[in-house]
Amino acid sequence: MNLKGLILSGGTGSRLRPITHTSAKQLVPVANKPVLFYGIESLRDAGITEIGIVVGDTAAEIEEAAGDGSRWGVNITYIPQEAPLGLAHAVLTAEPFLGDSSFVMYLGDNLLRDGISDLVEKFVTNGPDALILLQEVPNPEAYGVAECKDGAVVQLVEKPKEPRSNLALVGIYMFTPAIHECTRKIKPSPRGELEITDAIQCLIDEGKRVEPHVVSGWWKDTGKLDDMLEANRLILDAVEGDIRGTVEDSEIHGRVVVEKGAVITGCTIRGPVIIGERTVVRDSYIGPYTSISNDAEVGNSEIEHSIILEQSKVLDLHGRMEGSLIGKNVQIIRLDQKPRAYRFMVGDNSWIGII
Ligand code: TTP
Repeated sequence: MNLKGLILSGGTGSRLRPITHTSAKQLVPVANKPVLFYGIESLRDAGITEIGIVVGDTAAEIEEAAGDGSRWGVNITYIPQEAPLGLAHAVLTAEPFLGDSSFVMYLGDNLLRDGISDLVEKFVTNGPDALILLQEVPNPEAYGVAECKDGAVVQLVEKPKEPRSNLALVGIYMFTPAIHECTRKIKPSPRGELEITDAIQCLIDEGKRVEPHVVSGWWKDTGKLDDMLEANRLILDAVEGDIRGTVEDSEIHGRVVVEKGAVITGCTIRGPVIIGERTVVRDSYIGPYTSISNDAEVGNSEIEHSIILEQSKVLDLHGRMEGSLIGKNVQIIRLDQKPRAYRFMVGDNSWIGII
């Protein structure tokens, strides 16, 4: 079967402001690689080479980062969505690209540990009209929830007050072209979006077969700070150590990646940690689950369980930084000038915790 891939990378990203004021959330790096790239690689590994990426306001940045896909051996087509009007609206917008192909729809801010190759195989072998990924969660009321019977999905409810199962929809779906009739038919939900749950419910109501697949490995939606940090932790947990930069007078424990051109001096680094190209870290402690991007600088500070993006500086912090996401070109520095005072230049929706 000739399957296409559809990655959704439009959206508003309101839960990840202020990072998303200036950048696409799908490009925030997890273990120093944009979230979006994990999705592209999952599709490629499942043998899918025709990939459409739905883009919104951040189209230029996403196109610049992913290009034509040749680096992964795939073909990428960019599909502008007029506004973030819902996941089913994204499918509607992509209909000319999808044509009469079956396809895998992958939310561009999602990560799935075990990839999708097995699921694609199941979809192709069993031949249902749709296959949806589900995962058992402790708080189903916060998700789209599926009720299953005799190996088929019988009902989907968006954020139910009284969930009838603990199976939440994971952001990866497989569809035959039967979905298009439903995305054309459904009406916007109370929040004004064309919901993919409504489109799938429409398939079920029309007697089409929707199969569930319960994911056993981890799955993460990186749309919020805590989830982004958790995704970073999960990916770093599987990273192998590799010192390609310069390390002097430092103690390295556990799995630590130091990229080419990075310089580490007078530090204790306790992995899993990744430090990007040309980044300088001196006289500091870098603790587990920290990713520092390229061209950054850390001096005389302690950092743990955090993500720091490129060209940012963290210098002379007295307390340890943890659970933090620092954007690009940010400076957190100690000032000597008088009067001694906190000085901030902080964008909208930022969040600062001091001790
Ligand atoms: P969400 O995270 O559900 O929505 P969002 O990006 O608008 O974020 P927030 O709720 O924080 O404001 O979207 C899941 C993925 O789908 C994400 O990669 C963005 C993408 N998307 C589209 O491409 N088009 C859309 O219309 C919507 C709603 C999301």
